[in-house]
Amino acid sequence: MPTDAIVLAAGAGERLGSAVPKAFAALSGVPIVVRAVRGVAAGGADRIVVVVGPDRLAEAAAVVDAPDGVALSIVAGGGSRVESTRLGLACLQGDPADVVIVHDAARPLAAAETFRTAVAAVRAGADGATAALPAADTIAFVDGRLITEIPTRSRLARIQTPQAFRRDVLTRAHEAAAAADDATATDDCGLVLRYVPGARIAWVQGDERNLKITTRLDLELATRLLAQFEGDDGAGSRSSSRSSSGT
Ligand code: CTP
Ligand code: MG
Repeated sequence: MPTDAIVLAAGAGERLGSAVPKAFAALSGVPIVVRAVRGVAAGGADRIVVVVGPDRLAEAAAVVDAPDGVALSIVAGGGSRVESTRLGLACLQGDPADVVIVHDAARPLAAAETFRTAVAAVRAGADGATAALPAADTIAFVDGRLITEIPTRSRLARIQTPQAFRRDVLTRAHEAAAAADDATATDDCGLVLRYVPGARIAWVQGDERNLKITTRLDLELATRLLAQFEGDDGAGSRSSSRSSSGT
């Protein structure tokens, strides 16, 4: 059963504030998007579409690689994450029941196991699945400077990527969002829940180390984590699962 994947790397990275878009910033000497694509391949994808800014197509083609047997293509993204996902999905025709992974390049440290667990949840019958973690902080709804509600923490989870979906479910959500001209969703589970009534989205065990690189501090933390994984590795045996290998 083939597994497709979309790697989202078309954001500007404004909050990181680097000279190049975030996905092309170096994490321990290797562009973030290169590490993310290696991670997705290690996680079992057979066909990967990397979505980058329209002005980064040539650069991406020059730096991104995938192991033998993994089909790689690079396409231009849009002005929002939703649009970039839709443009990536349009390149992945196939069986409606097959699984499509969606992963943010901004999470280059995702472990192979996380991809496999999310995909397995969809193969087992869910319409979609996301990596998630319980909320440690208390989370509030706010209105400007006012706290308006504190939802019960035990019912809250922090959503990560990778996420995995049946192709037909993800396609339906994106078609409906495009028809409604709605590009506000910050992840695809939210989009599916909004536009595919009755869809069942599971959550699987996320990983604190699968951090999202948003700010300079995150980049520093990711650099340290990577050094730790490489130290743990010794001969580098675990590196493929965390896409930390430079080779
Ligand atoms: N993304 C994308 N296309 C967009 C916007 C975002 O492919 N038009 C991708 C980013 O490249 C990133 C993921 O969606 O991998 C999550 O977005 P975020 O972390 O917000 O990254 P950026 O939008 O690049 O960062 P910022 O919001 O700070 O500009
Ligand atoms: Mg953004």
